[in-house]
Amino acid sequence: MSVPASTTAIPTIPTLSDFSVRLIAWQREHGRHDLPWQNTRDPYRIWLSEIMLQQTQVSTVIPYYGRFLARFPDVAALAAAPADDVMTLWAGLGYYTRARNLHRCAQVVVEQHGGRFPESVEALAELPGIGRSTAAAIASFAFGARATILDGNVKRVLARVFGVEGFPGEKKVENGMWLLAESLLPVNATDADISAYTQGLMDFGATLCARGKPDCVRCPFAVDCVANVTGRQRELPAARPKKTVPTRRTWMLLLRDGDTVMLEKRPPSGIWGGLWSLPEAADEAALAQLARDFGATEGVSPLAPLTHIFTHFKLDIEPRIAEFDRAAKATSARDADTVWMSLNELDAYGVPAPVRKLLEGLQGSLI
Ligand code: ADE
Repeated sequence: MSVPASTTAIPTIPTLSDFSVRLIAWQREHGRHDLPWQNTRDPYRIWLSEIMLQQTQVSTVIPYYGRFLARFPDVAALAAAPADDVMTLWAGLGYYTRARNLHRCAQVVVEQHGGRFPESVEALAELPGIGRSTAAAIASFAFGARATILDGNVKRVLARVFGVEGFPGEKKVENGMWLLAESLLPVNATDADISAYTQGLMDFGATLCARGKPDCVRCPFAVDCVANVTGRQRELPAARPKKTVPTRRTWMLLLRDGDTVMLEKRPPSGIWGGLWSLPEAADEAALAQLARDFGATEGVSPLAPLTHIFTHFKLDIEPRIAEFDRAAKATSARDADTVWMSLNELDAYGVPAPVRKLLEGLQGSLI
């Protein structure tokens, strides 16, 4: 029988038809098999481990997990415990909302589900502290559900192997990844296969396809992996896009008297609170007025502008230099907390980094 010429459109989601087969084989040979929460189908134990592992490394979780189970061997024991006891056992693991949700979740399971965890991803995801990926992990490990996880490690694997562009924290990219991850689930799989697949996604992402140094030589997807084939391991997944920060502009007065400059104490709160800095003005004219008020001789001269980056904005600094007119004996019109600092005393004053740079430049030019 002749095969008709393909008229199918180019698929929008790339697939590797045997991704799951290769991942399961990799997991059985190279993955982790003896972690304390493996080799059980008890949803309580699996749930507890997945919550503890949400933002915490395996090695940190292991002793906490053991202590928790010893004190609360089942969901009823946890639900009945005083909140303080739960928090005490959690102390040191961090992200304490997890502990409060854990306790509430145990109570909901007891009160609304007769003490048994529901089996579907959807019902699990309704419980406090359980998101879609954690629900899939619990459902696949405990009940053999054909559901995919999608945590940070899995996103990295998918971005690299399938060349998914865009920052995976962005909703559109993430939605595409959920579809891709679902399309890769094993077919006709036993519960053991499902469990190995889920654990394989976790272990492969955490070990071989690590963020900084993927071990492409040992990778079962090396010949198909878009990142490996195109040498883009460092670029995939794409980094969080840089926020465009607003720019502010300020004029700074370097009022000089020989090798000394005038510094002004900044107000205690706000940017550079309490530091010694240069007097500032909002524009060229205000700067000229400021210079006169502080007793400058006629005329200010521009120095090279510089930019300082804060977390929330960029500061463009326009420095202007002027000579102090001793004869005029001006007093500050601003009633400011000012000081005359010798340029070689710079280390003795708390001065903001860009101002220090300016003053060092001036010191260099005087030598
Ligand atoms: N991280 C999240 N879940 C995990 C698990 N079951 N094993 C190892 N690391 C994990």
